[in-house]
Amino acid sequence: MQIIKKANELTEIINELKKEGKKIGLVPTMGALHRGHKSLIDAARKDCDIVVVSIFVNPIQFGENEDFDKYPRNFEKDKLVCKEAGCDIIFNPEPQEMYADYKKEASLKENLKIKEEFYTIKVPTKYTNKLCGKSRPDHFNGVCTIVLKLFNIIKPNVAYFGQKDIQQLIIIKNMVKSLNINTKIQGCPIVREESGLALSSRNSYLTESQKEKASTIFKVLSNIELMFNEGFTNKNEIFEQSKKLLHKDIEIEYLEVCDINTLDYSEKILHNSFVAIAAKIDNIRLIDNVVLS
Ligand code: PAF
Repeated sequence: MQIIKKANELTEIINELKKEGKKIGLVPTMGALHRGHKSLIDAARKDCDIVVVSIFVNPIQFGENEDFDKYPRNFEKDKLVCKEAGCDIIFNPEPQEMYADYKKEASLKENLKIKEEFYTIKVPTKYTNKLCGKSRPDHFNGVCTIVLKLFNIIKPNVAYFGQKDIQQLIIIKNMVKSLNINTKIQGCPIVREESGLALSSRNSYLTESQKEKASTIFKVLSNIELMFNEGFTNKNEIFEQSKKLLHKDIEIEYLEVCDINTLDYSEKILHNSFVAIAAKIDNIRLIDNVVLS
């Protein structure tokens, strides 16, 4: 397994592999890898000749008051996960490699000013004025900018994203369509703990007791799915019933039904929609969703 830190070097390696006709799979991550990431690497390993995992905590997708500084970082452990899962190349650039004017010693606030200095992706407001975009206004612009940069460096045939970040997945699918990017976007199912809690790098912020309470988020979603399968479609009725299952220490930021392709809100729970939730436990923000097919 190779570990590459320079974008040009990786592009050269990829160009050679492409000449040999190799199919390249990319798993973009911010590290702190868990079983959810492993399932993405496994999917890439199954489909592709070469599996690249990028590990990069992307500063420009964080807000000034978010958890960029304390975001979990454990490269040694990540390396082991990648190796065991059969990854061929880890791309682990420094922030300065991805954003030329980034200053290592400066605060995130100071560094976010660099966004004025280079080209970024502006995601259409219709995708960002809802769900997580409401409380994280510039987040998806930052995500799409880094994902496009990774696509340009690695030119993957397929890129793998977890369905847990469903708004991100749909926005990236639409970006690829809109900008004629020659990469297939593969969404992969949510991986959960036995309790139902969706795996997330941010779960490392939770104590065991918080995790137990947080697992009731999945109980809410499961009940919504159950009622939908039993024929209920009225959103308010389904939500009111299901919210009763949430632990009292958990505060809902949003609970919404959206169209699976357009992200448009819906008053009815229909096929081809998904129900997404963001909720806070002691100020730790968690997201989850269920797709109704
Ligand atoms: O989902 C993530 O971990 C990140 O948003 C991504 C796609 C790696 C971009 O930084």
